[in-house]
Amino acid sequence: MKKIFLLTIVISLFSPVYSQKAGHKNEIISIIPQPVSVTQGKGSFTLPHNIVIITPKNEEVKRTAQHLSKQIRTVTNQVNIKEGTTASPKSIFLSLSANKNIPKDEYQLKITTSGVTLIANEPSGIFYGVQTLLQLFSKEIAGNEIHKKPNEWVLPIVTIEDHPRFGWRGLMLDVSRHFFTVAEVKDYIDQMVKYKFNLLHLHLTDDQGWRIQIKSLPKLTEVGAWRVERTGTFGTLSKPNPGEPATYGGFYTHEDIKEIVKYAGDRFVNILPEIDVPGHSLAAIASYPELSCTPGEYYVSPGDRFMIWPGGGQHFYGLLDNTICPALEKSFAFLDKVFTEVAQLFPFEYIHMGGDETARNFWEKNEQIKALMQKENLKDLDEVQSYFVKRVEKIINSKGKKMIGWDEILDGGLAPNAAVMSWRGMKGGIEAAKQGHEVVMSPTDYAYIDYMQGDASIEPPVYATLRLKKAYQFEPLPEGINPSLVKGGQANLWTEQVYNMRHAQYMTWPRAFAIAEALWSPKEKRNWKDFTARVETHFERLNAAEVKYSPAIYDPIIIASKKDTTTVIVKLETEIEGLSIHYSFENSFPDNFYPSYKEPLIVPKDAAYMKLITYRGNKPVGRLMVIPVADLKKRAGIK
Ligand code: ACM
Repeated sequence: MKKIFLLTIVISLFSPVYSQKAGHKNEIISIIPQPVSVTQGKGSFTLPHNIVIITPKNEEVKRTAQHLSKQIRTVTNQVNIKEGTTASPKSIFLSLSANKNIPKDEYQLKITTSGVTLIANEPSGIFYGVQTLLQLFSKEIAGNEIHKKPNEWVLPIVTIEDHPRFGWRGLMLDVSRHFFTVAEVKDYIDQMVKYKFNLLHLHLTDDQGWRIQIKSLPKLTEVGAWRVERTGTFGTLSKPNPGEPATYGGFYTHEDIKEIVKYAGDRFVNILPEIDVPGHSLAAIASYPELSCTPGEYYVSPGDRFMIWPGGGQHFYGLLDNTICPALEKSFAFLDKVFTEVAQLFPFEYIHMGGDETARNFWEKNEQIKALMQKENLKDLDEVQSYFVKRVEKIINSKGKKMIGWDEILDGGLAPNAAVMSWRGMKGGIEAAKQGHEVVMSPTDYAYIDYMQGDASIEPPVYATLRLKKAYQFEPLPEGINPSLVKGGQANLWTEQVYNMRHAQYMTWPRAFAIAEALWSPKEKRNWKDFTARVETHFERLNAAEVKYSPAIYDPIIIASKKDTTTVIVKLETEIEGLSIHYSFENSFPDNFYPSYKEPLIVPKDAAYMKLITYRGNKPVGRLMVIPVADLKKRAGIK
């Protein structure tokens, strides 16, 4: 069967933006992530009034057929599902091939004037093919409104052959800094699977909250899941007042976790649980203070300044000791209990143990740590951390799971079977692969979607920026290492500054489109201009689905430099082509009748604000940006 497909398929590397009309009205074929091969024919297939989906006798494929039918029904109200092994005219025929040469997750989707045929070797391939099929419908398919004219449902004539580049295509959601409900997590899964992500990493524990019920350690959720409520900027929030009730937070019960795992599994998504130790453990220590090397009063942090974050790769400095003590046997007894329940709840083969950003300043002075170093012959605190990580790995392995951790687990010597999640750039991943360990790439410079995605004057403040264009340059496979050790990659959404799901969506999209494409599509097909055209059509789909996204790609990039000791020069660029930038310096709101940016601007001597807006033709597309000249001077290095 594969041969027949190959005969009819032209492998189209370097495909341009597809210009042929598809769907109804003016839609183009616009698939994210870009498939391996798309061959478009002439004409179209109009869905009949009573479209039939034919599915094999396979529970997983039937479930996928239900998902497809539900989405089609939302807009046409006319779908039937039948079991069968042959296509009937004008149907959507889902078929599992007996050809074992087709790789896992591959699918072949063929739309002709007589119907739709989707063939894969495994149910996951059918699921991915259905996601592609849904993207071939016009955007209303992503919505919830019943469409009034079912006979307008038109699909392009096309043959698509597709398979993923990497098997680990992840997003991480930090549910500790802010808690997200089961319904919200399911909603996030619904969005991610449309773009063929297959892994959701839940960061379940941190200084700001412990989010998973551990039945043998009830205080973790009685105490650790709750903090005093504060609103504002992380790191500047006020500490709990004496006796102030901790009412903000939440946690997942075992039943909740089972529900999430089942929901994800039905959509071919693995859930990777993270229990972040030995650092980032204030919520656990507030629950069980005896786990700390440093006796004291502990609380779940509402986002106050209990640490000093020095940056530049230096070790963190704790004002409170937020680490589980590696010198205490009871720490490992505690972790044994935690990982026993975690291993039972999550079927995925890996458990993430964190391991990042451990503050050592309390360990440095601690007598129990010194005694441990002597007893175990550990020459420095890296080796203390490594001792801890190796013991954690033994616990996790004893529960039948593999361990993964952030790249700090390399410090002082990697545990024998550990996989490494590389976040401080790619170097940790490269080093781990050179030592023969599996790696997942999620470097801050390309894949940290908690960073601002546009200019600081318009984005909610975070300490760093990652624009869509940079995220699109993410290349998970560096040269010079064994490619089979790179399992894939993921984008990470830390939620210190993400208080609700609308903002989580805003931070995720469109950057997760870029990450999805880096992880699924052939490297050779990467094409920024083509991608941004597709991103814009998917904005329409997100609108239909009522999912928030950032429009930052429409806003100008501002580069301020110094002309002389008092004068700023501003250079403006746009991430995407075809926009005009209009500006003012006299406080009024610019529109497309205002001057259009042509060359670097000299900020007038007494101006207080620069205001900017972008247009495409006569349509405003960017947001109105207001930048104090004092800020521009600071950026230019003028005192
Ligand atoms: C991390 O961002 N601390 C893994």
